[in-house]
Amino acid sequence: MGIGHWEETCQIILPTLQAHPTLQADPTLPTLQALPNSPQRPMPNAPCPMPHAQCPMHPAIECHNLKTAYSPSLQRPILNGISCQIHHGEFVALLGLNGAGKSTLLRSLIGLVPLEQGSIHINDIPMNPRTLTQIRRDIGMLFQGGGLIPQLPAIDNVLCGKLGIRTTWQTLFGFPKRDRRQALEILEQLGLRGQADQKTSLLSGGQQQRVAIARALIQSPQILLADEPITGLDVMACKQVMDTLFELHSQQGITIVTVLHDLGIAAEYAQRAIVLDNGRIVYDGHCENLQAQFSVIKN
Ligand SMILES: Nc1ncnc2c1ncn2[C@@H]1O[C@H](COP(=O)(O)OP(=O)(O)O)[C@@H](O)[C@H]1O
Ligand SMILES: [Mg+2]
Repeated sequence: MGIGHWEETCQIILPTLQAHPTLQADPTLPTLQALPNSPQRPMPNAPCPMPHAQCPMHPAIECHNLKTAYSPSLQRPILNGISCQIHHGEFVALLGLNGAGKSTLLRSLIGLVPLEQGSIHINDIPMNPRTLTQIRRDIGMLFQGGGLIPQLPAIDNVLCGKLGIRTTWQTLFGFPKRDRRQALEILEQLGLRGQADQKTSLLSGGQQQRVAIARALIQSPQILLADEPITGLDVMACKQVMDTLFELHSQQGITIVTVLHDLGIAAEYAQRAIVLDNGRIVYDGHCENLQAQFSVIKN
């Protein structure tokens, strides 16, 4: 990318990024000490017979009693006592009716939600303002709607995933060549090599969603959180996106937590379902007979 092109790109990117929630510091994020009810965890230095990535004692994600502040409009906290453990390499579908708290729960896992109570550990690291940068390096997030910059070519959207870990100096004259090579490799892996230079707005919905996945993957996350990645896509695009997530899980061992609305798709791809209702987990288990779990919620 030439300097002129890059300046133009910056003018498009910067206002969007400044408004982007992940890049805004959250001064209300509580420190771990401020959170009551932290669970008893294994001693950090205790010998562990297994690599952490496989050890049930060291989950990829551990939430204990997460509670947000009371919301007057809902007459309850948005998250109201969420506890769960998600292990390395699991593929979890997060389900629930609109307003149940699914997006809020995903956002809390990257430190975007002020919590009144509870604790979060990611890869055994307690979330607090000091560890947040490190934690965000391990987690890729696909926001609802993709959050891509439509005017930019696909490859530049993918490169935006590097902005959090490159200094201004490193990107002043464009991204390093190795970043561009990596972006192209990821686009190729997701079947989008031919679309790398196309304006993102001209791509199909399914292709755009895969560009968003590529943007999350360029930071080499161990965990991928996806908020409604297939909402609004046609049947073929849904399959492509879900197959892509499944391959990341099965071939690269990436832990996937994805919000879905289609119970059939959840049962087809996920190993486990977590169902939220009114800010609480009402079901956590296998994906068989999910319809029955939902009839309980509706009644
Ligand atoms: N920042 C916020 N301020 C106030 N209410 C919010 C905020 N974010 C979400 N909510 C409310 O919390 C509830 C849960 O939202 P959300 O997590 O987006 O639900 P879901 O993703 O399950 O549809 C909704 O009723 C929503 O209106
Ligand atoms: Mg949502």
